[in-house]
Amino acid sequence: MTELHKNTYSVPEALAKNAWIDKAKYEALYRQSIEDPEGYWAEQAKRLDWIKAPTKIKNSSLDPKSVDIRWFEDGTLNASANCLDRHLETRGDQTAIIWEGDDPSESQNITYRELHARTCQLANALKALGIGKGDVVTLYMPMIPEAAVAMLACARIGAVHSVVFGGFSPDAVAQRVIGAQSKLIITADESVRGGKQVPLKDNVDAALTRQGAEVCEKVLVVKRTGGEIDWHAGRDLWYHEQVDGQSTECVAEEMGAEDPLFILYTSGSTGAPKGMKHTTGGYLTYVSLTHQYVFDYHDGDIYWCTADVGWVTGHSYIVYGPLANGGTTLMFEGVPNYPTPGRMGEVVDKHRVNILYTAPTAIRALRAHGDDVMASSTRESLRLLGSVGEPINPEAWEWYYRVIGNSKCPVVDTWWQTENGGILIAPLPGATDLKPGSATLPLFGVRPGIVDNDGNLLEGAAEGNLVILDSWPGIARSIWGDHERFTQTYFSTYPGMYFTGDGCRRDEDGYYWITGRVDDVLNVSGHRMGTAEIESALVAHDAVAEAAVVGFPHDIKGQGIYIYVTLTEGHEPSEELQKELVKWIRTEIGPIASPDVIQWAADLPKTRSGKIMRRILRKIAANETDGLGDTSTLADPSVVDELIEHRANR
Ligand code: WT7
Repeated sequence: MTELHKNTYSVPEALAKNAWIDKAKYEALYRQSIEDPEGYWAEQAKRLDWIKAPTKIKNSSLDPKSVDIRWFEDGTLNASANCLDRHLETRGDQTAIIWEGDDPSESQNITYRELHARTCQLANALKALGIGKGDVVTLYMPMIPEAAVAMLACARIGAVHSVVFGGFSPDAVAQRVIGAQSKLIITADESVRGGKQVPLKDNVDAALTRQGAEVCEKVLVVKRTGGEIDWHAGRDLWYHEQVDGQSTECVAEEMGAEDPLFILYTSGSTGAPKGMKHTTGGYLTYVSLTHQYVFDYHDGDIYWCTADVGWVTGHSYIVYGPLANGGTTLMFEGVPNYPTPGRMGEVVDKHRVNILYTAPTAIRALRAHGDDVMASSTRESLRLLGSVGEPINPEAWEWYYRVIGNSKCPVVDTWWQTENGGILIAPLPGATDLKPGSATLPLFGVRPGIVDNDGNLLEGAAEGNLVILDSWPGIARSIWGDHERFTQTYFSTYPGMYFTGDGCRRDEDGYYWITGRVDDVLNVSGHRMGTAEIESALVAHDAVAEAAVVGFPHDIKGQGIYIYVTLTEGHEPSEELQKELVKWIRTEIGPIASPDVIQWAADLPKTRSGKIMRRILRKIAANETDGLGDTSTLADPSVVDELIEHRANR
């Protein structure tokens, strides 16, 4: 085992005193949640307003022959009503969303009453357009309040939202519209990030020309910038024109706890992105609980999660968790380093943010500027810091703690995945001593395990593959339209256990240290990408005969993308072709998949059965060519020498 980071930070006493959960409570409640999940979760379900309270709490089987997960299955409720209506009496005039524009001179406070009214108006407009229970609505939106309104409006009428990250390409939008058979898209003319416009509506226009995408009949367009766009009469509708005349009341649809709330696509090691299906009762209970306890959220706190609503972090910890808890959630349109590198701190000061939840890549990028980068802000309002999306290296953790948090705010490193719905492993600030680089301990109801490659559960301090041994309320229930794939992907590697795809170490204190993916999934700046997805985009280009994509260590992004390409006959390596391929990937997938390095390869290292040996390609990309390990199974070992000789990122 590699040496673990040695510093520890104990719980600040003042914080423990006021925290929801202290050490003794954590231990007792954790034990109860594992020994008596029914009792624990029956109690926790009461944090929501149910139309019909559930009497059946947990009914789940992880048997790989028939994975079937249900929580609170006989209960009924509405997620939108839980995030809005039930707060109106006590906190109607409280700010629900603080919106901070890309341009620092633009911001808005939206109260619960206003958010409720705007949600009802859109819900009524959607109904008028023929959208109802079970229909899938695609959202391809900037980080503007309408994004949250759209999610809540769908939830209100029982429509299922499928948010597509605004940085994805037209092809990626088309793929997701077709996959979900979505009849309506909500978008904006343009989004604004870092002072630049992104042509969302143009991208939608292009997406809808793809074969199969004509299933989408209507496009609702928010006017964000007033930039020029094409207009398809009969299909395109202005958001404001549809919404303005609508009533500000709309009765929330009664939904079963297991009715779908949303689909969210995520990448795996093989095949096309998977639409994870999340349902209503368990998901909302779980995100409410985790938002309250992990961030030790108290009434009046100003909470800022810097994620985009296009990712699950935005769903659970910008919208559903904070709003279910009646919190104030900050939504930021821009990027952390615009117009100044210290913008993040400036936003904290401007809105007196108490809890900041961001990603290691943002922290590393700031740290690269030196401590002075934060000189434009004091950040004295901060009480707690959170990290998510990828392993945080101890140096970045310490910098986050010392410079951003002025050495007084605990850092909660939260490990979870799109499939999980909410945080699974993380410290509770009033209960858990911190070790930089460790996500620490499991949350209530979560039973992690570490297995070796043969699936044997390892006891005590150990290193291996991270699995979860039982279901929890927030877990995805299926892959949209492909339950078989759900079972195969997550429950067949280690039968009867949920396999995370992550490697992990558990230390002698029972703390978990996530070491990164053990499958062919990349994590670039916290964005998850399948190598197979990038490879299939590449081979769709006529110049490319074969492509292999691997990750390599990158100081800021965590992982960079390294691509090996063999060309088809008649094509020669050139700088133009290199540029062309970068552009190709950006249009096929999106800018987040832009390669850092392209290496032309005469051939790729393969086993005699024709399987590409990625292990070797990873080593070459990382420039660790001394320890290539066993290459005896290679069909032609000279291929490797050739690749090393022409390594691209020296
Ligand atoms: C993968 C999931 C849901 C959070 C946003 C990303 C990595 C996530 C951590 C962390 C180490 C982390 C894992 C995981 N990851 N958080 N705190 N420490 N690794 O969600 O896109 O579904 O990606 O992100 O590798 O499997 P996602």
